[in-house]
Amino acid sequence: MRPTIKQLREAAAGCRDCPLWQGTTQTVFGEGPPQSPLMLVGEQPGDKEDLAGHPFVGPAGRLLDEALRELGLDRADLYVTNAVKHFKYELRGKRRMHKTPAQSEVAACNHWLESEIQAVRPRAIAALGATAARALLGRPVAVTRERGQWLQREDGIPVLITLHPSALLRLQGEERAAAYAAWLDDLRRLPGASPG
Ligand code: URA
Repeated sequence: MRPTIKQLREAAAGCRDCPLWQGTTQTVFGEGPPQSPLMLVGEQPGDKEDLAGHPFVGPAGRLLDEALRELGLDRADLYVTNAVKHFKYELRGKRRMHKTPAQSEVAACNHWLESEIQAVRPRAIAALGATAARALLGRPVAVTRERGQWLQREDGIPVLITLHPSALLRLQGEERAAAYAAWLDDLRRLPGASPG
């Protein structure tokens, strides 16, 4: 029998499969209805997620929530998770600054993501950024070139490639507004999203 999301979450709480657990508050596992038709996958929890124990609750999560609202998608209906379940950071003074996970760390964590996919069996998945896309498809993905496209995993589940919301947070003013509009256009392809 496949483990349930609840069982997976409990097992992942003690994960020591890579060194990233050291210096974190907790494992941040995926959340959402265990039979959700749609799964969103990010990179890794950030500072706020590490403290709260929930995915996408910091600034990137707020932007994601805003986009989902505009698309008429209810986050409560979606399963939201990350390719890596612990926060990787470097200390600058007292601040914990995000650090991109190494491929070995993504690989060590991949069995959790695959188990989540097997448990939830979503009809579609959105990959938010390059780390998620690579983890889901098992090959490097050029997100700026392949964004807005549906790519197929070996198990047949389609994956929509798009940017990570943090990429938008790094922009300002008109540039951010244009990037946000283009991101919404990508996400509009998700099943259930309003056509705009
Ligand atoms: N960025 C991610 O990729 N995931 C989170 O949960 C938060 C920020």
